[in-house]
Amino acid sequence: MKSNSRQDVILNSAALPSHVAIIMDGNGRWAKKKMMNRVKGHEQGSQIVRSVVTACRELGIDTLTLYAFSTENWERPKYEVTALMMLLKKFIVSEREDLLKNNIRLSIIGQKHKLPLDVQKEIDATMALTKDNNKLLLNLALSYGSREEITTAVKQIAQKIESKDLNLNDITQDLISEHLYTKAMPDPDLIIRTGGEYRLSNFLLWQAAYSEIYISDTLWPDFTKDEFIKILKNFQERDRRFGKVTCSTSNDG
Ligand code: IPE
Ligand code: IPE
Ligand code: MG
Repeated sequence: MKSNSRQDVILNSAALPSHVAIIMDGNGRWAKKKMMNRVKGHEQGSQIVRSVVTACRELGIDTLTLYAFSTENWERPKYEVTALMMLLKKFIVSEREDLLKNNIRLSIIGQKHKLPLDVQKEIDATMALTKDNNKLLLNLALSYGSREEITTAVKQIAQKIESKDLNLNDITQDLISEHLYTKAMPDPDLIIRTGGEYRLSNFLLWQAAYSEIYISDTLWPDFTKDEFIKILKNFQERDRRFGKVTCSTSNDG
């Protein structure tokens, strides 16, 4: 699809979310509906990632975070975990050239050290190659869980207090944010969840404090650029108050 399609034109580019995060859910149900193995759903799902990355780059979104594998997903059957790791490696290798060519930087949030070594190696290579790219930050959440992230941050801060590198009063919201995997990025403006479940499933719990949330019934392998643009338009129509009172709702003008 061309970038100057009708939907793109009616999007207000000045009011686009700077950071979009997506819980890519529904691969298994998509496969089941088609009487196929769950792994087929993951395969199709990884094709959709490609089109959403392209859309973000074309639209000028700064950061795209994709929830690809949670700390809890390790509990799935071994064959499914193995297939997901293989698909991940394939994606990182096959997209490398395109990421480079399109000025996209790859980064990871989560327990990278828990991933298979060959996957870590490919991630490191792609991260190193794309480290100076600045059009879009593609941030993959891999073996990611908010509670693990926050627990790790608390331990790091406690260690710094113990070693007297920090005082109790140094603990601020900013300091906590700086100890999370997402330290170098703004909080997500918009979190999209496909697959119709109304939950965050341990995703960006701290960072989601004022994120706009959009739940789509579409299963991830059926997600399209057109729906993505529809969601962005919906985001642009929202009144983000951050707990304050906006002019439209205030009585004293
Ligand atoms: C999301 O799809 C992908 C991962 C969690 C890795 P699911 O595999 O959770 O698909 P459903 O929710 O079972 O349909
Ligand atoms: C969330 O989906 C994790 C990812 C999309 C990677 P899950 O399928 O794991 O979440 P639950 O089990 O429905 O909460
Ligand atoms: Mg699921």
